[in-house]
Amino acid sequence: MVQPGYDQLASLFGSAHEKALSEGTIVEPPSMKDFFGLTKSMNSNLINILNEHKMTGKRFIDLGSGIGWPMILANLGAGMVSYGIEARLVEFELSKRVIQILGQSTTLDSHPFYGNFFPPDFKVGYMDKWRFVWDIPGELRRSRPYEDMGLNLSDFSVIHFYQYNRNLPAVMDYISQRASPGTLIINPTNQVKGLEFPKNFKKIESSYDAAIFYLD
Ligand SMILES: C[S@@+](CC[C@H](N)C(=O)[O-])C[C@H]1O[C@@H](n2cnc3c(N)ncnc32)[C@H](O)[C@@H]1O
Repeated sequence: MVQPGYDQLASLFGSAHEKALSEGTIVEPPSMKDFFGLTKSMNSNLINILNEHKMTGKRFIDLGSGIGWPMILANLGAGMVSYGIEARLVEFELSKRVIQILGQSTTLDSHPFYGNFFPPDFKVGYMDKWRFVWDIPGELRRSRPYEDMGLNLSDFSVIHFYQYNRNLPAVMDYISQRASPGTLIINPTNQVKGLEFPKNFKKIESSYDAAIFYLD
């Protein structure tokens, strides 16, 4: 089967969003307004990176999956079974509905989950100004996305994260401690440039404007 390219997927994704929002039950998240400017182009290399690393058929997870775009690229563009965890309900609801809509006309195999991507037993105390940790609404605190999906971080071949800068060290620590050796790690905009990486993060040189590692 020929996989659709990036532009074709962006167009499919845009139409599905329009349909989801026109139904009137889902509020448009502020991040959606950025989609055709910022977010869309930030993930423009993802399909190529995944295909170059021969990831078809393997599992992909997006930590903080937002409105779902990287999950859809990983599945329809690179044949990975994709998952995402998102803490903001408006983003999560929209990604879920868009995936349902796209599933009616494609073979989409993407699974968004609501919750905190840091499991309760992972300590992130030094992120003390971070609202998702200390100001977590009860529902989010009680969420158990890994239990809901029946998988742990170590079950994924690719981990994708694009996060607020102050959260990056904690996210990298989490991946460093809980993912499996050999996992491909993708930070799509190379926003981690200049930061200290965990020792088991081995940088893969790439011509893309992305930071790519494998876990030793
Ligand atoms: C910059 S957006 C990236 C969206 C998408 N991954 C992309 O690359 O286009 C970061 C997302 O991570 C979510 N997020 C931040 N911390 C989280 C956490 N601990 N658990 C789940 N989602 C989180 C935010 O709500 C936001 O939607």
